[in-house]
Amino acid sequence: MNVILLGAPGVGKGTQAQLLVMRDGFVQLSTGDILRNEVANGTDLGNKAKVYMDKGELVPDDLIINMVASKLLPEKSYLFDGFPRTLAQAKGFDELLREKRMQIDHVISLNLHYDEIVRRLSARRIAPKSGRVYNLITNPPKVEGKCDVSGEDLILRSDDLPEAIEVRLNEYENKTAPLIQYYQNTIGVKIVDASGDIEEVYQRIKNILS
Ligand code: AP5
Repeated sequence: MNVILLGAPGVGKGTQAQLLVMRDGFVQLSTGDILRNEVANGTDLGNKAKVYMDKGELVPDDLIINMVASKLLPEKSYLFDGFPRTLAQAKGFDELLREKRMQIDHVISLNLHYDEIVRRLSARRIAPKSGRVYNLITNPPKVEGKCDVSGEDLILRSDDLPEAIEVRLNEYENKTAPLIQYYQNTIGVKIVDASGDIEEVYQRIKNILS
């Protein structure tokens, strides 16, 4: 089963994807995580992407489509987290899925009030190597500043600063939100309320998948 998780920055896509990977055997394909890895390794793609990411802008579509194409294996069950993000990416993705003889079974859009999104993002900390996500208020690590599993230092993402959050929310409204209508016209979209605690949101998603 392949699932697209849509939703504004900070709505909880990565958090839910990590649970669905651990409990339900999905493979998470997060274009944000892949790009951050490329940046950390100083690759050509990473250097190009960093310029956009630091400002909170979307990375150009051709870079993203090629990157996803190089990762897809038809036999896996994917959770697409943060991809596609524009109409051009969605159309390119449709072609890619046809070539690979794959299909999307569910498109789930997580919805949350913007004030709550800003609160969640401002308190988010991540473990850069393992990609684990924490929140100083709602999901703190056991030891302050350290990842529960790897013990590595937690950091604030450079795009979780207030100016970049605002740009990202605008990018979402202008370029990504139209995908809800795009998928309504084809596969259909299930809207999920992303308020409440992490477990409640997980159960809402599970009800759709089962
Ligand atoms: P990306 O990494 O995809 O960032 P994003 O979409 O902005 O999403 P986030 O990772 O910020 O949020 P999330 O929804 O995963 O929330 P999370 O679970 O962490 O992309 C980053 C950048 O890369 C983009 O800006 C762009 O430049 C580039 N990029 C990536 N993909 C691209 C593409 N396809 N095309 C072009 N450019 C691309 O949760 C947030 C916080 O809330 C955490 O602290 C978490 O612990 C907490 N939390 C989660 N759920 C709950 C809950 N239910 N209750 C309380 N707290 C919660």
